[in-house]
Amino acid sequence: MSARQEVDLEEFLQVSGKKPIPADLSVYRTPSGIPGLDRLVEGGLEKGSVVLVVGVPGSGKTTFALQFLHYGAFSLKEPGLFIPFAETKESLYRHAFGFGWDFSELERQKLFQVLQFKPHQVTGLIEEGGGAIKDEIKSLGVKRLAIDSITAYTLLFKDDYQRRESIVSFIERLHDWKTTSMIISEMPPTVSETREGSIGFLSDAIIALHYLKPDKESGREHSVEVLKMRGTNHSTRVFPLSFESKGLRVRSEALSKD
Ligand SMILES: Nc1ncnc2c1ncn2[C@@H]1O[C@H](COP(=O)(O)OP(=O)(O)O)[C@@H](O)[C@H]1O
Ligand SMILES: [Mg+2]
Repeated sequence: MSARQEVDLEEFLQVSGKKPIPADLSVYRTPSGIPGLDRLVEGGLEKGSVVLVVGVPGSGKTTFALQFLHYGAFSLKEPGLFIPFAETKESLYRHAFGFGWDFSELERQKLFQVLQFKPHQVTGLIEEGGGAIKDEIKSLGVKRLAIDSITAYTLLFKDDYQRRESIVSFIERLHDWKTTSMIISEMPPTVSETREGSIGFLSDAIIALHYLKPDKESGREHSVEVLKMRGTNHSTRVFPLSFESKGLRVRSEALSKD
């Protein structure tokens, strides 16, 4: 990573030679809910897309997904569904409340739900077409969904072919349900490309959360990078990510050059 440099975001977004797209062909976008992120991706996430969020433990993935869901439910009144494999609902709600996100209240208003399964139960559900997940999506009218994490799920499969088939079905279901979805992965992208049945290849977008030491003496710092977003002229730089009292924010000075 090169030295910090100031980047004029407005200038970055003036994409040279970009032609206007007819309204019916344009990508419908939805705000991510992470201040500073949408400017890097032409205004937001593609509605109905499947976004893979990758990063090491502590990089901020769970917070990122909860913020996306909270913004949808609280600000846009879009019901959200969270499927955690590693954390209990109580621990998530407590963690979220620290940022002022009251998921218990949103749950009372039928704008949010947590579904807890063991990874092996999900395999059965996906094979049956979605089962309880599908029912919840239909009954609540879920528009935003997050799975935390796919790593726990993919560890179920010893066989690469089965793993890939299962991930393909999972992503197909998410596309069928038309939810804008975040799939969290603990694996670095290069590893997730291979070990997780090319989930990075199958997903519509990949957002990497980094948690690196800028140099030997410094402590670790959080940052974010859009590795891929289909149909989007996205930034290819790394931007610092701050944990603030109301959640995460992408700061505008880039940490890396194009
Ligand atoms: N309020 C906060 N202020 C600063 N850093 C925080 C705060 N809350 C969480 N963090 C950072 O975020 C990390 C955990 O975030 P989390 O979203 O659970 O990451 P992940 O899901 O990638 O493991 C913590 O280890 C810490 O580095
Ligand atoms: Mg987590």
